[in-house]
Amino acid sequence: MNIAVLPGDGIGSEIIAEALKVLRKLNLPLEMQEAPVGGTGYDVSGDPLPEATLALAKSADAILFGAVGNPKHDHLPRDKRPEQAILGLRKHLGLFANLRPAQVYAELASASALKPEVVAGLDLLIIRELTGDIYFGSPRGIHTNAAGDREGFDTMRYSEPEIRRIAHVGFQAAMKRGRRLCSVDKANVLETSQLWRDIVIDVAKEYPQVALSHMYVDNAAMQLVRAPKQFDVIVTGNLFGDILSDEASMLTGSIGMLPSASLDANNKGLYEPIHGSAPDIAGQGIANPLATILSAAMMLRYSLNQAAAADRIEAAVKRVLASGVRTPDIFVEGTHRVGTQEMGAAVLAAL
Ligand code: IPM
Ligand code: MG
Repeated sequence: MNIAVLPGDGIGSEIIAEALKVLRKLNLPLEMQEAPVGGTGYDVSGDPLPEATLALAKSADAILFGAVGNPKHDHLPRDKRPEQAILGLRKHLGLFANLRPAQVYAELASASALKPEVVAGLDLLIIRELTGDIYFGSPRGIHTNAAGDREGFDTMRYSEPEIRRIAHVGFQAAMKRGRRLCSVDKANVLETSQLWRDIVIDVAKEYPQVALSHMYVDNAAMQLVRAPKQFDVIVTGNLFGDILSDEASMLTGSIGMLPSASLDANNKGLYEPIHGSAPDIAGQGIANPLATILSAAMMLRYSLNQAAAADRIEAAVKRVLASGVRTPDIFVEGTHRVGTQEMGAAVLAAL
């Protein structure tokens, strides 16, 4: 099994290093090949998504991705900025289905910013459409309007097939879980959302066992912090999903805990923590590697057909958390504070 490893920027290389140790420990026939991406890719080739990196990603069975983004590149034109690397990979590889599970480990309930009783036992899956919407819609740009003022504009756009296929992913995921699907939109204001809602309702006819509900995104943002356990699976568009998944991460105690899978129509996927490159703590050895380690577990499960190995990793993470080992982002009084490498070592030991 060929895995393209793209550590990227900031804490990317630190957290990926720990995930690789975990993968190697499993004694599976994994070929791992690394390539530069993001600001690191730009620095070596003048392109955040170097051609060779894209070729490697295309030829691999799965991609393990760290994070991209570096303030040092913020002055670059948009098409050269590190973020273009991940957006380009998603688009070029057709990775339209983004799975972002948010689970609260019993031991971490007290690390959440919310009351433990609100989040304890939470098990939520956000399915975010990843290759459409205002992220990719055209036209877009900054121009001078008729009044002589500069004006920025983007286009929110979804076609029926795009909505249909992500709706199917949502219903199929709900079938494997609690059979409740909440579709999040802004149909009271946006045409795009009206079409989204109509199509989701149509697709629902094929899944009579799933209870479908709809929620406006502003209400969903509120409900996620008021009573998050009401949700089983949420399906939503690219922009709303970006925002809601960051919000959901805080229910679990830390954004450093959330893995993700971005899948194409054949379950080939890119796996990455949902957090970014965290330049403020890069190089300090304190980043939480668990989101990346759990992303590696998702990779084994979804793209490489190694469910037993994925179970082993997830069980090891649970055991480590139960033992009280904590990186600073999930530290609470009475637990044992460690750095990135010690957390990786603890997971290895638990394996
Ligand atoms: C994410 C990130 C990306 C996004 C950025 C880095 C372009 O926030 O994966 O959620 O907006 O999709
Ligand atoms: Mg985001």
